[in-house]
Parts: sequence; C-alpha cells; structure tokens
Amino acid sequence: MSRIAIVTGGSRGIGAAVSRALQEAGCTVAATYAGNDEKAQAFTEETGIRTYKWNVADYAACKDGVAQVTADLGPVEILVNNAGITRDAPFHKMTPEQWSEVIDTNLSGVFNMTHNVWTGMRERKFGRIVTISSINGQKGQFAQANYAAAKAGDIGFTKALAQEGARAGITVNVVAPGYINTEMMSTIPDKVMNEVILPQIPVGRLGEPEEIARAVAFLTSDQAGFITGSTLSANGGQYLH
Ligand code: CAA
Repeated sequence: MSRIAIVTGGSRGIGAAVSRALQEAGCTVAATYAGNDEKAQAFTEETGIRTYKWNVADYAACKDGVAQVTADLGPVEILVNNAGITRDAPFHKMTPEQWSEVIDTNLSGVFNMTHNVWTGMRERKFGRIVTISSINGQKGQFAQANYAAAKAGDIGFTKALAQEGARAGITVNVVAPGYINTEMMSTIPDKVMNEVILPQIPVGRLGEPEEIARAVAFLTSDQAGFITGSTLSANGGQYLH
C-alpha cells in the first residue's frame, strides 16, 4: 500500500535518508525544509520527492503546509518529526534566544506538526508518528541545555501520545540517534570530536544517516503496529539505558 508520509527537514542529513527509505518502502513522501532552496531543489530533481518549505516552529505554517500536502498527495498517514537545530553554548553563555530557538523548533515544532495530522489519523484509525530525538536528550550533553531539554521533551511527548493514539491505530515512537555523519557535526570543533566524542563511541565511528533511516522505516511500517511509546536508540553503544 502506498502511504502518504511527511518527513520534516526531509531534504538533508538524516531526514533525506529517511525520505529515501520511505520512498523505497513504497510511500509517497513530502519532505519539508526551512531554508535551503538550492539543496531542496536538487533533492527533488534527484529523487522525485516533492519538497515543501515551511518553518515547523510556526503553528500556522504547519497547518497550511499539512493542508497543502493533503491537497497534493492525500491524507497524511505517516509523520516523521526530524527537523532540528543546535545552538550550542555553555549554559553561562547561553542566550534566551538560543534557548527559545531550539525549544521552538525541536520541541514545539513536534507539537505543531503532530497536532495538525492527529485528528485525521484518529478519524481514519491509522497513523505512524516517529520523532527523531537524540542520545543527548537521554544522557544530557555539555553545551546543550537547550537541545537536551527539547530532545528529552520529545520522549515524554511521545510516551503521552502513544497512550492516546493506541485505540485509534496510531503508533507514536522515538528514534534516538547518537552522533551521525551529517552537516550538524560540522559545528563541533575537531578537537572535541576527536578527543572527547569519538573515544566514547564503542563501535569506533559515527553512524550513517541510512542507519537511522532503516530504523524509522521499520517503525513506520504497517508491520510495527504493536510497537508504540518506545525509544529505539541507535548510537553505536555510546549510551546504554
Ligand atoms: N564535552 C566536554 N567538554 C567539552 C565539550 C564536550 N562535548 N565541548 C566543549 N568542551 C570543552 C572544550 O574542550 C573547552 O575546554 P578547554 O577550555 O579545557 O579547552 C570548553 O568546553 C569550551 O569552553 P568555552 O567556554 O570556551 O566554550 P565556547 O563558548 O567557546 O563554546 C562550544 C564552545 C560551543 C561548547 C563548542 O566547544 C562545541 O560546540 N562543543 C560541542 C558540543 C557538543 O558536543 N554538541 C553536540 C552536537 S551533536 C548534536 O547535537 C547531534 C546529536 O543529537 C547527537
């Protein structure tokens, strides 16, 4: 069955790999992006996956965006909340703006998107929602009070909604990646990456976006109907809980 899926931040990094994996699984995918028109256009040309520009931190934009995807492709059956940003700073230097930007995108963005597909999923008695959290929402991280708070919040959000969605055929899960080989890593100074982070990863390397995408494809499949409220960690053994 060809299901309709939205992947936020779906034209780059982990999101692009998720968009491709869902397409391979037979879904019709809409990939959203916030800013990089060039990358999005190139992604559409290469994959045939439609891209849509809106900011997940803006509730009204999410509402309009979901309505547009529904008009173009049909009712949304799968939502992957992948869009996320970092604004790292030690807490004594973190500004209220750095706090708000990360909370607005990485936590409220998940509310904004999920809220706008939820009613339709309840009515149709089917839905798959996967939110990309992070190892750093599970264990905390130096210079990421904002990001760790948002990503931990995504896990609590998921556990609550899993209970509400269960009777309506909607599963709600989290994938918590460790350090993955994407552009987001470029903000980490080389010294920190080589001397602090890499030595903490037992498999001895960063993960690849496709390794996260496969986990998402599984959780969004029709066969995963008994898995809900779970957090699937994919972190190379860096954090076991
Ligand atoms: N763990 C431990 N120590 C760290 C660290 C980390 N992850 N990151 C920085 N530090 C240390 C630095 O080595 C430095 O120590 P020294 O002074 O002894 O050399 C000190 O913290 C930096 O302190 P400053 O007050 O000078 O910091 P700054 O204002 O210059 O900010 C920084 C620098 C923003 C913290 C920068 O070092 C940085 O970006 N660090 C990486 C933080 C990090 O790991 N973020 C995770 C990003 S990956 C991600 O978010 C994706 C995901 O989900 C996994």
